[in-house]
Amino acid sequence: MNLDFSQIVPSIPFILEGIGATLKFVSVSILFGLVLGTILALCKITNKKILKWPADIYTSIFRGTPLILQLMLIHYAIPQLTGYDIAIFLSAVLAFGLNSAAYVSEIIRAGILAVDQGQVEAAEALGVPYPAMMLSIILPQALKNILPALMNEFITLTKESALVSTIGYMDLMRRAEIVGAQLYRNFEPLLIAGIIYWIMIFILTNIGSFVERRMRQSD
Ligand code: ARG
Repeated sequence: MNLDFSQIVPSIPFILEGIGATLKFVSVSILFGLVLGTILALCKITNKKILKWPADIYTSIFRGTPLILQLMLIHYAIPQLTGYDIAIFLSAVLAFGLNSAAYVSEIIRAGILAVDQGQVEAAEALGVPYPAMMLSIILPQALKNILPALMNEFITLTKESALVSTIGYMDLMRRAEIVGAQLYRNFEPLLIAGIIYWIMIFILTNIGSFVERRMRQSD
């Protein structure tokens, strides 16, 4: 067995710096995906075709093509057309946010449809305007039911974030790869990166369970 952690000890801080880089773009992407996903979901549940169709087509495209292809398209192909380079961080956030919105919109749509129709009728009978009804009555109830599905989406996004190493973003994955290439030892840095990803997901899962418990308590 050829394992030697002593050689990679000096490189550990370099790998750890990737945690911040990964968390930074993942959290911005999650927020972006949540906002756009909610808007898309609202478009999907109307019976106005002019809103519904574009939202359905959007989901079909972003869910129907690989995320790595979308990432490369944004980072390498669009500059070919426009003549302007896109910063790595911006490409990463755009690709992950746009992709996540497609998945989030379906989660939220299902959540809204699962809220009892009586709630809508009661709000309408009381003359509550549509935006206020959605924001303060329907969406909060939907959120409670879809929280586990949303957590799943955030977990997926956090792990898929390793894809940005392919466009040179200095995330956890890329840093582990660089250390591996420098030392001609891949097992140790990859093992460290793997453990860090696992810890990040472990913490995220626990935050999700905590919020879920809180929401049930408030019932
Ligand atoms: N590997 C999959 C793909 O390339 C992952 C996409 C998952 N995205 C998401 N937001 N859940 O399509």
